[in-house]
Amino acid sequence: MTAKKSPLDKFISKRANNVSPSGIRKFFDLLQDMENVISLGVGEPDYATPWHISEAAVKSLEKGYTMYTSNSGILELRNLTSQYLKDKYGISYKPEGEILITVGVSEALDLAMRAILNPGDEVIMTDPHYVAYDASVILAEGKPVMVRTSAKNNFAVEAKDIEAKITAKTKAILIGFPSNPTGAVMTRQKLLDLAAVAKKHNLMVISDEIYARLTYEGEHTCFASLPGVKNNTILLGGFSKAYAMTGWRVGYAVAPPEIIAAMTKIHQYTIMCAPTPAQVAAIEALKTGEPDVVEMVEDYNRRRKVIVKGFNDIGLPCFEPKGAFYAFPSITPTGMTSERFSEALLKEEKVAVVPGSAFGKCGEGFIRCCYATSLADIEEALNRMERFVKKHKK
Ligand SMILES: Cc1ncc(COP(=O)(O)O)c(C=O)c1O
Repeated sequence: MTAKKSPLDKFISKRANNVSPSGIRKFFDLLQDMENVISLGVGEPDYATPWHISEAAVKSLEKGYTMYTSNSGILELRNLTSQYLKDKYGISYKPEGEILITVGVSEALDLAMRAILNPGDEVIMTDPHYVAYDASVILAEGKPVMVRTSAKNNFAVEAKDIEAKITAKTKAILIGFPSNPTGAVMTRQKLLDLAAVAKKHNLMVISDEIYARLTYEGEHTCFASLPGVKNNTILLGGFSKAYAMTGWRVGYAVAPPEIIAAMTKIHQYTIMCAPTPAQVAAIEALKTGEPDVVEMVEDYNRRRKVIVKGFNDIGLPCFEPKGAFYAFPSITPTGMTSERFSEALLKEEKVAVVPGSAFGKCGEGFIRCCYATSLADIEEALNRMERFVKKHKK
């Protein structure tokens, strides 16, 4: 459908016109007016933020702690972030100059792109990928370059496939593992291979590790912890997923001082600082939230096993996602496109999923299902989908 022409069209920049609205939101707008829908759609925890974390922010408001913070974020939060990264991954980043507190990974991603890209610079990323990845590059007037990944390779990316896409214009590689939408993770060896390519061609690697804590088998490898990559890495992390804090809007970027300085310049003119109560909540999360993370991750893991088995049992082949909270089953047995499947499923069985095509060409033939919802809802969604698949199987 082409948008209706308006006299105001001339005011819309090419930059804004060059990106499409998120294919995820489109679906959520559809289900606003429907009842009894089970949503496996939006990628967010079904938990409310653990109360002791929220309470810390409430108490700070009672004390009148409502002013701007430093542009870089509250020093205590940067200190704790630095300590967390050291304890977890053995990496050393200085709280002053190498860590910037942002409005979620969303802002950190945008800042990273705007800080490093000149018009026409290329950024290599996987297809499928999180919806903001290509958009953030386009909005910074760069060019996203896709590397195909597939269920056959568990949606991991090979360094040689990335290397094959490198041109004189390539500036960076953007990776996000564990992956949204596939749940794929990368082995340490695959990341080492990728690091070698980045160093050989002197490229920046932007590593979005927002789902790092949601890793179900083995340990997450932080890209920045690989030997010799510090000067080639911008690490992005946040609180939204692990601590069930999506609405607070707080995350961070960690990088060499020159990069953080450039990102901070853009941040200080556009954002000023991440919301003060959200930063206070993040401090509490890092100080006392670890048991909550462990408990929630154990719960996601139980749901992961149920949903993956469920999809395979009802005839939608699903590779085993080892991280994040998404399953990415194939819907090819129905012969439908992912958009048609998702629309019909919503209409006929009131189950909301996201078409794989929202995440890139290689997402076609798949649907993204977020399993951060109750086991009862997952089981009921599987029943409804079984009925739907039986009806539509070719
Ligand atoms: C891969 C990925 N990166 C970044 C984000 C944005 O996170 P935040 O809430 O920290 O802005 C999301 C949210 O869904 C995501 O899935």
